[in-house]
Parts: sequence; structure tokens; C-alpha cells
Amino acid sequence: MNNEQLYKTATLLLTESKGILAADQSINTMNKQLEGIGATPDPETRRLYRQLLFTTPGIEKYVTGIILYDATIRNHTDDGTAFVDFLIAKGIVPIIKVDKSTVPLDGFPGEVVTEGLDGLRERLDEYYKMGARAAKWRAVISIGDGLPTHDSIKLNCLLLARYARLCHEAGIVPIVEPEVLYEGAHDIARAAEVTTLTLKTLFAVLQQYRVDLKAVILKTSMVLSGNKNPKQSTPEEVAEATLKVLQDCVPSEVAGVVFLSGGQSPEQATANFNAIGKLEKANGKLPWKLAFSFSRGIEQPVQEAWKGKAENVPAAQKILVEVFERNCKADQGAL
Ligand code: 13P
Repeated sequence: MNNEQLYKTATLLLTESKGILAADQSINTMNKQLEGIGATPDPETRRLYRQLLFTTPGIEKYVTGIILYDATIRNHTDDGTAFVDFLIAKGIVPIIKVDKSTVPLDGFPGEVVTEGLDGLRERLDEYYKMGARAAKWRAVISIGDGLPTHDSIKLNCLLLARYARLCHEAGIVPIVEPEVLYEGAHDIARAAEVTTLTLKTLFAVLQQYRVDLKAVILKTSMVLSGNKNPKQSTPEEVAEATLKVLQDCVPSEVAGVVFLSGGQSPEQATANFNAIGKLEKANGKLPWKLAFSFSRGIEQPVQEAWKGKAENVPAAQKILVEVFERNCKADQGAL
């Protein structure tokens, strides 16, 4: 198969000093976030929220792509323009979350496996016709007593490999996301160990199943001590540990690496991303591009400013631009 078009999409998604917005909260997660700001958790409020994000003036200066949930890719602006067409007209790549979330992994207490392979070929074809040119699949790895097991990591990586191959068949760039959770009392050394095992396993399996890594984007967690560890990692520690793990594990052919915020506060995620940018500058060029792909790390202050009220839309959009500007600067280590 000719993967030239996939390489072009991946290159576009990794344009210098821009990021990817993860606006793909599931209906349940979005509803919880809406309730948290006192807004009504219904389809129209969810549509209005995504419209607020996507119609922010100048958004295309900061993001190359936006990750959408199934209900959102089928939705539209007030004037009836499909969200996907609206984004494409701005030069933004629509990205679709295609996994169907996690379920407990039977026989492995405390571990989960991601579902969504059934019917995926047909769904990818439909999303491609709608205009999506990249996709996301999230696997979840927890750190705890005796966790994670290598077997559950392997199973999750096999599913990521099968997903990636199906994406390539459909002309879609797969974002592979093995999220090592921030929740826990572990220290940064343990986070580095688990992220290393996860990424080494992932790339071994992707290579075993002949996935063209030049058309793959890795979405990863930063390496830092758990949120319940009294010793929180400094941005410098996060940058050093994260870049070391990535350099040890990510093959140079991979198109790029983007970061999730993973429950860090927006300020913390940006400060850590900035330290990574600074260290990258100091150490010299890495083989792949780095970028942000936060959801909560970008949207939390926007939601707090909006509160579900039409009169707050301009103020919330102004905050979104400010958060984007900070993260685009952090990409250069320039904060
Ligand atoms: P957070 O930045 O909120 O972790 O979300 C990113 C994401 O895409 C999770 O799948």
C-alpha cells in the first residue's frame, strides 16, 4: 500500500509550535464535566460546548487537529454546518476516537483492557468518508501493588497494533495512546520503569505486526510521580525522566510524540511540557516532533469561564486562546 498520504497527514499534525486538542470526552465524561460547572448535561449543551471550542477565532493558529467523539463528528454548528466540514475549512484535521473505552480484564484484578475492534474496519471507512484523517485508541495502564502485569500490557499493545493496521488500511493515521495513569502513590522511578516496559512492549508488537511507524503518532503520559506521592516531581525532573524514557523506547521512524495531561492541573501540565521543550532545546534535536494533545489540561479553565451560559462564550474563548498560546510557547520551552 502507498502510505505517502498518511505521511503527509502525520507531518501536518506535527507542525512546529502547534498542538492537538483532545475534545473527545465520552458522553458520560462530558456530562460529569458539565455538571461540575453547573450546566445541563444534555445533547444540546454538549453541542454548544464543542461549538464554543471549534468556533474560537484563530483556533487554527494553535491546533493542527482536534480529536472528536462519535456523537461530535456527526454534529454541527448553529447554522447546520457539520463540525467536520467547519474544521476542514480551517485547515484542521478531524481526528476520531475509535476505541469503546475500557472494561475490567477478567483474571487480572485491577487491570483493564480497551474494547472496540469489532466492526472497526467499517467504522473507519465511514469516518474517512466523513472527513476524518486520523484516529485515537487509548489503552490504560495502572501502577499499584503488583501492577501492572506484563501480560495485560501485552494484550493492550496487541489491540493497539491491530487498530493501527486497520487505520492504515482505511487511509487514517493512528494515534496510539498507552496511558500510564498518574493516579497512585508511586515515585517517578517507578513511573519511568512502567512507562519504559509499556513503550518497549508497544513498539515490539507494532513492529511484529508490520505497522509502518512513519505513519504512527504516539500519545503518551509524561513520566512523573503519582498524584498521591507526597514528593511531587519538579518540571525539571519530569522533563529529564520523560525524555530519557522516550529516547530509550521510541524508534526514530515514529512520526511524532504527543502528550496527554492525564489529570495534572493545567498549570502543571504546561510547566512540565515547557521544561520538556527547554531540555529538548538544550540537548539538541530529537528524532521525532513533540507536541501537546491535552484535554483537561486545556479545557478545564475554559469550562470554568463558560459555566454553560451563552453570555460567557466570548470570555471562555479568550481563555482558550490564552491557554493555547501558553502551550504553543511551552512547545518551544519559551515560557
Ligand atoms: P487528558 O489531557 O485530559 O489526559 O486527555 C487526553 C486524552 O486524550 C485522554 O485520552
